[in-house]
Amino acid sequence: MTLSIREATTADADDVVALWHRAAGPTAILGDVTSVRRLLEFDGASLILAVKDGEMVGTIVAGWDGWRGNLYRLAVISERRAEGIGRRLVAEAESFLASHGCPRVTAIVHLELGDAAPFWVKVGYEHDTEVGRFVRYLS
Ligand SMILES: CC(C)(COP(=O)(O)OP(=O)(O)OC[C@H]1O[C@@H](n2cnc3c(N)ncnc32)[C@H](O)[C@@H]1OP(=O)(O)O)[C@@H](O)C(=O)NCCC(=O)NCCS
Repeated sequence: MTLSIREATTADADDVVALWHRAAGPTAILGDVTSVRRLLEFDGASLILAVKDGEMVGTIVAGWDGWRGNLYRLAVISERRAEGIGRRLVAEAESFLASHGCPRVTAIVHLELGDAAPFWVKVGYEHDTEVGRFVRYLS
């Protein structure tokens, strides 16, 4: 069967978190159903799903803040990797951001913990070694 791509709804929240725990590797710990539901209620973001044979096989989050776009939570289940699903999810997320007038996209990538960096280069992203992240938790 063909791959379909669609936006997530609140009904998908449990399955999305389960997929992240199964497939997202080092970032899995950061996902919970309450956060997913909050994301889905926010206009500037899109949680995009890849579905094959009725099974959710991949996710990506595209966030638009009015200035720049960011990509998070790219994950494809291990059984479906190397089939072009990650590339397709990135393309869909970029379309969402472009439709809002977004001029530049950043992918948030765990360089030390995952092996995703080569993927991002393959799909056209440049590793910016000059800019780092400074993070503070507000709650
Ligand atoms: C990274 C990930 C999303 C890639 O998904 P995928 O569906 O297997 O990727 P695709 O099949 O679309 O691959 C696209 C291209 O990237 C290449 N690629 C994918 N993973 C790669 C890797 N680890 N090293 C080198 N190249 C890679 C593929 O060979 C393909 O190249 P091609 O188009 O020239 O054939 C998937 O491996 C994954 O979910 N990993 C665990 C979670 C993770 O690390 N997420 C990223 C967080 S930033």
